[in-house]
Amino acid sequence: MNSFTYSYPVKVYFGEKAAQNHLANELAKAGDNVLLAYGGGSIRKNGVYDELMGILKAAGKTVTEFIGIMSNPTYAKVQEGAKLARENKIDFILAVGGGSVIDCCKIVSAQAKLNQDIWDYEYAQHGQPTEFIPMGVVVTAFGTGAEMNNGAVITHTKKMMKSPLWGAFYDFAILDPAYTMTMPMKQVISGAFDSLSHSMETYMGSPREVNLSDEINEATQRNIIRNIRATLANPDDIQTRSELIWAAAMAENGILKIGKVTDFQCHMLEHQLGAYTDCNHGQGLAVLHPVLYRHMLPEATPQFARLAVEVWGIDPSGKSESELANAFVDALAAFIKEIGLPTTFAEMGISEDTDLRAIADTTILTGGCAKKFTADELYNILLECR
Ligand code: NZQ
Ligand code: ZN
Repeated sequence: MNSFTYSYPVKVYFGEKAAQNHLANELAKAGDNVLLAYGGGSIRKNGVYDELMGILKAAGKTVTEFIGIMSNPTYAKVQEGAKLARENKIDFILAVGGGSVIDCCKIVSAQAKLNQDIWDYEYAQHGQPTEFIPMGVVVTAFGTGAEMNNGAVITHTKKMMKSPLWGAFYDFAILDPAYTMTMPMKQVISGAFDSLSHSMETYMGSPREVNLSDEINEATQRNIIRNIRATLANPDDIQTRSELIWAAAMAENGILKIGKVTDFQCHMLEHQLGAYTDCNHGQGLAVLHPVLYRHMLPEATPQFARLAVEVWGIDPSGKSESELANAFVDALAAFIKEIGLPTTFAEMGISEDTDLRAIADTTILTGGCAKKFTADELYNILLECR
């Protein structure tokens, strides 16, 4: 094991009626002025807005609404939220949504307390914000696990970068599977695939030794694969849904990363694909993963071979390590097809004239990836994905 420090600041309330049972107690600790942040309006259609507003009103809060946080949230939207928070002297932010709302609010909470541009502060001056508006989150779309960490992925449209910024941890996260039952099935599957990707990206890091985190990770991957299939077979089953929600949180709450070097090269590439195309995150990962992994085969053979056996149930008898590694990539690619995720950019509706060269050239190269990629090789990978 590498050395590590582990402590966790996010209190999780998991299960049906979690908001009715716990939100009032949490709000009692918060100031009077609450910013209620959400996306394009799904919560107004499925009743979640009315339920939460009832709890906020009963708690005597003055509510300001921050509306219309888009998928792949922009830096301009962060600034809009920070301005709203300052003007209304917001004491507490309640974020309600998926990864996009959750991420946007993390940076709103930091920017509202910072007297300079947070992008410059973090990227040019290498600062880490230390003051935040306290926050809570009600998750309505799962997959990213964003509720469990303080990283946020924000699209700076002028700079053409979709990049991580560091903000606040949520004080609490409410995970009620019932709130996610209205998610479109396409989003359920792309979100769950994102969770699988987080587990794989964590697992692939190099140099590596197999430790307890890996074995928990293998169980997490098996669980996600099994429950994606179960969800497709029975979309209304709240039990399989709740498994996927907790697996998403597990994949990003730091436990799988304990004592590990992580990879996340596929994520860095997908984020820049998102900066140039505004594509769905989980779908982008589904197209990129098998192609990128074929390029990583020689360097990541031990990781891939172990996953073939431990996660994908491939019989190792009579097979070399390299054959097993190939079998892992084949199994992953077949699974992506089986669950109806796209396998090419064309299927995602990404236009042929997208500047793939610029995407490759602006992608962060990660130190923990088993293979040290160059921008040229990433460009070739993008070409193969068309
Ligand atoms: O905006 P509304 O109307 O609410 O609709 C949303 C949105 O269209 C809809 N939705 C959410 N809950 C719903 C629902 N529709 C019906 N019923 C419900 N209960 O779902 C759509 C997608 O939501 P979004 O938040 O964009 O999706 P996701 O959770 O996949 O988040 C994606 C963002 O998270 C970032 C991604 O890059 C992307 O920007 N990520 C954040 C990470 C982190 N901070 O740890 C890690 C990830 O790797 C990822 O990069
Ligand atoms: Zn992701």
